[in-house]
Amino acid sequence: MIYPGVYKQSSTWIHGTHILSLLCLISHLTAQPNPPKIHEGWWAYKEVVQGSFVPVPSFWGLVNSAWNLCSVGKRQSPVNIETSHMIFDPFLTPIKLNTGGRKVGGTMYNTGRHVSLRLDKEHLVNISGGPMTYSHRLEEIRLHFGSEDGQGSEHLLNGQAFSGEVQLIHYNHELYTNYTEAAKSPNGLVIVSIFMKIAETSNSFLNRMLNRDTITRITYKNDAYLLTGLNIEEIYPETHSFITYDGSMTIPPCFETATWILMNKPVYLTRMQMHSLRLLSQNQPSQIFLSMSDNVRPVQPLNNRCIRTNINFSMQGKDCPNNRAQKLQYRGTTSLLPPTHLYLWD
Ligand SMILES: *[C@@H]1O[C@H](CO)[C@@H](O)[C@H](O)[C@H]1NC(C)=O
Ligand SMILES: *[C@@H]1O[C@H](CO)[C@@H](O)[C@H](O)[C@H]1NC(C)=O
Ligand SMILES: *[C@@H]1O[C@H](CO)[C@@H](O)[C@H](O)[C@H]1NC(C)=O
Repeated sequence: MIYPGVYKQSSTWIHGTHILSLLCLISHLTAQPNPPKIHEGWWAYKEVVQGSFVPVPSFWGLVNSAWNLCSVGKRQSPVNIETSHMIFDPFLTPIKLNTGGRKVGGTMYNTGRHVSLRLDKEHLVNISGGPMTYSHRLEEIRLHFGSEDGQGSEHLLNGQAFSGEVQLIHYNHELYTNYTEAAKSPNGLVIVSIFMKIAETSNSFLNRMLNRDTITRITYKNDAYLLTGLNIEEIYPETHSFITYDGSMTIPPCFETATWILMNKPVYLTRMQMHSLRLLSQNQPSQIFLSMSDNVRPVQPLNNRCIRTNINFSMQGKDCPNNRAQKLQYRGTTSLLPPTHLYLWD
């Protein structure tokens, strides 16, 4: 259940607050007359104030052997994207969204951890192109968000978080029969990530999900609400540029089967809509209110992974006296990335 090898790694934690949590974990797992039951749902983002111990991100990989990648994996997500380390890949084609020209219906859930939208089974939306070799089918749209404006996204950009992150989770439907199968298999998942920022007006798709009439229907855990006539295209910001890297699921079991695609423009939601999100509870109505916000896994080490982009920053060629990089096809962007090409900072 607990890996001795993992504890070696944990020596780096034996300063700061983690020692307390570690002792807490050990006492719970060994000293309790009835140790907590290990099951799929036994994890959390934050310490629970009342009640029993639930493992927070630094313990996910320690409490369940099926989740050990959360601790020992070297291609974990999310990560901090240092734009100076991005590499321009001229072979990245634009991402193609295939909705069959149809609007879709789906059910929005409060899972206790996320706002989650799942499409009806008869509505097939898939994406291809970009870093993808296969076509991938949309399985779920998941929202992460913060209790304060400067936090809430899982990925960071140059060390900074956004107010939230929309994750469109797709599975490889050419190789695998369903999401569960794909999630544990090579080239299984593609997750499109779109940062959320607060503005006066909101993205029309987010508005469908987050207007008061809708979002208040899923205030408590396990609440569900049916939405129809959704146009998936509308969630995408107007940009063809993106950043991509190979990583993992950001929840247990942290399988390293995900290709991430971070769009180079945020989508907007209103302050009111953000407020409504923060009023969602992780709990059922009979239990105390515990805001769902800050449902975020901390960033993981990049470990020499390559972060590619289709942003051709050499288009502003003034800073680029020769075409050495063009010959190499790939190039780091240390001093060359013009801020104007990074629309995320709008
Ligand atoms: C993608 O989805 C559409 C339906 O929207 C479907 O007709 C098409 O066959 C799918 N593409 C692939 C490559 O499976
Ligand atoms: C997914 O597919 C596998 C293999 O075909 C099957 O055994 C499993 O029951 C399916 N799971 C779900 C949730 O449909
Ligand atoms: C990138 O931009 C440069 C300068 O505008 C241009 O010469 C080059 O062809 C572009 N490369 C690609 C792959 O678009």
